[in-house]
Amino acid sequence: MTRPTRKLLETLKGHAQPIPPVWLMRQAGRYLPEYRATRTKAGGFLDLCYTPELAAEVTLQPIRRYGFDAAILFADILLVPDALGQPLSFQEGEGPKLAPIRSEAELATLKPEATRPKFGRVFETVARLRQDLPHETTLIGFCGAPWTVATYMVAGGGSSDQADARAWAYRDPAGFGRLIDLLTDVSVEYLSGQVAAGADALQIFDTWAGSLPDNEFARWVTEPTTRMVAALKSRHPEIPTIAFPRGAASQAKAFAAATKVDGLSCDTSMPLPAMADLGDTVCVQGNLDPLLLVAGGPALDARVDALKAAMAGKPYIFNLGHGIVPQTPPENVARLIARLRQTSG
Ligand code: CP3
Repeated sequence: MTRPTRKLLETLKGHAQPIPPVWLMRQAGRYLPEYRATRTKAGGFLDLCYTPELAAEVTLQPIRRYGFDAAILFADILLVPDALGQPLSFQEGEGPKLAPIRSEAELATLKPEATRPKFGRVFETVARLRQDLPHETTLIGFCGAPWTVATYMVAGGGSSDQADARAWAYRDPAGFGRLIDLLTDVSVEYLSGQVAAGADALQIFDTWAGSLPDNEFARWVTEPTTRMVAALKSRHPEIPTIAFPRGAASQAKAFAAATKVDGLSCDTSMPLPAMADLGDTVCVQGNLDPLLLVAGGPALDARVDALKAAMAGKPYIFNLGHGIVPQTPPENVARLIARLRQTSG
């Protein structure tokens, strides 16, 4: 008996689909009442991430509701520093907090050999998910890119301009390079563990790729991602990787060619003609404005139609240009899916 094809994986191999497969960044989250209920039951956000039963439950919630073509593992990019021994906390309404790492001595406190217990819980979530998901739903594992994760580790949390990491990189490129190398190696192990547990595809989130000038972008964004993709391809030749170098629309084509990623996720600033052009060389994902999902109505429909038309005949995965925001009305997500999947018009 032949099993139904996995549309999203076919698309990542370069095969265009008449109706593009769809998933949304942050598809599990606070805009869903069932997420808020499970989150309350878990206690803290990190408890939710590290409890396989609950993390799997919130991953499945948007699949049950909307029938997305992919589920993304519920976790966070900052579990990597947490597992390395840089304790992480999330304060309500304040975002992530970490004890900053800004010197070689602080760097030496990180323990790549000690990640197993925490990573193991994430791998258990992946294994549960692959068992519980329908065969045709692709399971996406993920991590943050070394540059973006480093910006949080060096600043001790979120920052508007990533100044601390940029300054360390200029002042002491060799020292900062050791942090990037460590993150590159640990992230390969982490993603490889997710594949061994059942992930079908991987995404590397580089939320702050756009804060670097071109020479620094090459060194801290393109180079580590290229190394990660090469290492993952040699271990798992069948597993496709998507990169999301947010804020780097003008460098997207060169980045995709250099890194050899299978998919490139475009942020909202990427013009549709540039996305269509990119679609001639790589599978493209994106880039609906998450605020259109808040607004809904005919403006949402019109942009869904425009994206679908611009990317027709190209390998294309429908997604947002950044994550769903908490004030999104769930019915607007249903509207988007219905519009995208309607066969005429
Ligand atoms: O996409 C998904 O549904 C999978 C789960 C996922 C989360 N975070 C859950 C989450 C993924 C893929 C991420 C990635 C992530 N985390 C990124 C890269 C992508 C992006 O959005 O730019 C970054 C930069 C982070 C770091 C992070 N996590 C911040 C800055 C915050 C606080 C801001 C916020 O939205 O609250 C988080 C918390 C977080 N991660 C939440 C969720 C659902 C909200 C936590 C809650 O329930 O209170």
